[in-house]
Amino acid sequence: MGKPKVVLGVSGGIAAYKSCELLRLLTESGHDVRVVPTAASLNFVGEATWAALSGNPASTEVWESVHEVPHVRIGQSADLVVVAPATADLLAKAAHGLADDLLTNTLLTARCPVVFAPAMHTEMWEHPATQENVATLRRRGALVIEPAVGRLTGKDTGKGRLPDPAEIYEVCRRVLARGVDEPDLVGRHVVISAGGTREPLDPVRFLGNRSSGKQGYALARTAVARGARVTLVAANTALADPAGADVVRVGTAVQLREAVLKAAADADVVVMAAAVADFRPAEYAGGKIKKKDGQDPAPVALVRNPDVLAEISADRARDGQVVVGFAAETDDVLANGRAKLLRKGCDLLVVNEVGEARTFGSEENEAVILASEGSEIQVPYGPKEALAEVIWDQVSVRLAPRRA
Ligand code: CTP
Repeated sequence: MGKPKVVLGVSGGIAAYKSCELLRLLTESGHDVRVVPTAASLNFVGEATWAALSGNPASTEVWESVHEVPHVRIGQSADLVVVAPATADLLAKAAHGLADDLLTNTLLTARCPVVFAPAMHTEMWEHPATQENVATLRRRGALVIEPAVGRLTGKDTGKGRLPDPAEIYEVCRRVLARGVDEPDLVGRHVVISAGGTREPLDPVRFLGNRSSGKQGYALARTAVARGARVTLVAANTALADPAGADVVRVGTAVQLREAVLKAAADADVVVMAAAVADFRPAEYAGGKIKKKDGQDPAPVALVRNPDVLAEISADRARDGQVVVGFAAETDDVLANGRAKLLRKGCDLLVVNEVGEARTFGSEENEAVILASEGSEIQVPYGPKEALAEVIWDQVSVRLAPRRA
């Protein structure tokens, strides 16, 4: 088998320079990349840069090398087309089937997965015309990644920024691995909590746990690649924002509850992958707690935190909402897991064994997925991303058919 063929479409926005990095990541990981820039994008990055970095010609027009019929061949032979950045104009053309240059022709002839990474000013992204075009493209099976929030060109800040090239590359890698399967979570809003809460004792100390957030982030990345709108409620994580996910940062269990409940109001799925502290200090000392010579430390009184998973499971914001919990156990893993599934009232419980050297902070995981109707799926030791895919497979079969 030859190298997977990727078409990198580049349309005319300042973020075009970031696609040089995306191209590098694709070529260095063994993809044969053909860059198809629009004429406008050449104002930002020239043809020579694309040709040199990709090792392939980079043309914008259908009138070059006509004997090779490039306007049809490039799309037909691609395994993946990714357009980054995708401007409002390019999205409009793609949604309406216009074909006035090589990139738009390629989009019409491609039968492989297509990923759009839009980048534009917030007003343009939010305009009903753009939103309708995005909805049209998604309905037809394309993956349109939500832009990131942050610095835009000039003085503006807001939604519309191109996600980091490394994160767009991650989406491409997953979509290529899934092949021609249409994204099955398109039109779904999923809420994922990740990381571990910290309960402050005083301005410099907290009670916390060892969760890294990696499993929750793997769930977010795989959900984006399967087409979902993702809200990631991240508690004290130090990981890069996944492309396409709306990241809400929280610190404590109470803040996490608030953010999860708010996002869950219109969610199809809620996955509680965060390690939420069961207790918090009853009192918060406004100043640093000092040791006193000759005196024993004062005991720390704790109070219960709300159980977010149990609350969400008992009071579903939407009919048919699927709720997934996690359980980290050190002993009697399965028996404790089954009891917890009943107690929490969720649909699926992902149970894993934890200990000093297992799971926390690692890239790999092993788990059993228990379902409320009694089934039990053993997921062998492997990347957290592989476990995430199995979780989404299980969620996907439990989702009610999409509303028209
Ligand atoms: N969880 C939650 N709110 C809490 C505690 C936990 O939503 N206050 C969620 C976690 O996100 C996870 C699940 O509940 O999805 C299981 O967490 P775990 O700590 O294993 O369960 P506990 O109810 O705390 O059970 P125990 O400590 O007795 O094992």
